[in-house]
Amino acid sequence: KLPSKVKLVDVGPRDGLQNEKQPVPAEVKIGLVHRLQDAGLTEIEVTSFVSPKWVPQMADNAQVMAGIRRKPGVRYSVLTPNLKGLEAAVAAPREFWPDEIVVFGAASEAFSQKNINCSIAESIERFAPVVEAAKARGIQVRGAISTAVGCPYEGEVPPERVELVARLMKQIGVQHVGVADTIGVGTPVKVQRALEAALRHYGIDEVSGHFHDTYGQALGNTLASLEMGVWQFDTSSAGLGGCPYAKGATGNVATEDVVYMLHGMGVDTGIDLDKLIDAGAYISEQLGRKPNSRASTAILNK
Ligand code: HMG
Ligand code: MG
Repeated sequence: KLPSKVKLVDVGPRDGLQNEKQPVPAEVKIGLVHRLQDAGLTEIEVTSFVSPKWVPQMADNAQVMAGIRRKPGVRYSVLTPNLKGLEAAVAAPREFWPDEIVVFGAASEAFSQKNINCSIAESIERFAPVVEAAKARGIQVRGAISTAVGCPYEGEVPPERVELVARLMKQIGVQHVGVADTIGVGTPVKVQRALEAALRHYGIDEVSGHFHDTYGQALGNTLASLEMGVWQFDTSSAGLGGCPYAKGATGNVATEDVVYMLHGMGVDTGIDLDKLIDAGAYISEQLGRKPNSRASTAILNK
């Protein structure tokens, strides 16, 4: 039995745009957030407070957060890898704070080193005060577990590694974990094993799927997750994106494609597909390309 309701977190403004070579103006990022919330998205991952030397595209984080017209009922999240990031995210007046922050670790040592420049154990030590400081301000905390099925440097990653990171994140008070297939190599049964590993430490309402679509498996992986009762997913408008530290990895599964699939199965998302397609078309046009969504392409060509 499938969940009757699904929540999608559009990570397009963050995961989708972080790897763009050309600078994307803050007004365009803000324009995308506005279109996504108008389409009915209730959770949007807006930006990240990371080193601008590592990810220059996200250097306008504070400007973007301050420029959003907040819509009641929508939650805005940002990535904060360390205390410096958290402090930057709350340096602005309270109305510009994120509702949720994301600490991001990995299930493989090599990816942890490449992405955040420290070991898994060190990352947990760094995250602990971030989690505490966020919660003290009433900000919720999500954790991302990258390379949960495969790593660009180490190859296949066993579920025990996911289980370990989920356990460590639980110990430091992270409230929700996202199981991330960073490079899109996962297939449905492997993804189910990785989710099961996270579910040993988190409840079904506290685990989400984050699937990149590099190998075209992300919709299948989403359906396999739904069959386990997982009902929250990170998706990216127009299939934008990729991780700068995972060469060749493409964007997250397109929000449009997931919405089309869910609505076709009678699962409610609260999202207006036509408006969502407009949002994806807007950002794609700004980037000078076509939306990387099959559903969007099909509907726009009708
Ligand atoms: P580090 O070099 O180890 O940190 O970087 P450090 O503490 O030694 O500081 C070095 C310099 O960075 C200093 O500046 C700090 O001030 C500065 P300097 O003195 O040289 O001028 N710095 C910062 N500046 C701004 N904001 C900060 C910050 N922290 C330090 N928060 C760090 C460690 C994590 C910061 C760095 O490795 C980094 O920024 N990495 C970027 C990671 C990233 O954004 N990756 C992409 C997002 S994760 C992802 O896409 C995966 C996900 O989608 C799930 C999936 O698909 O797998 C979530
Ligand atoms: Mg990602």
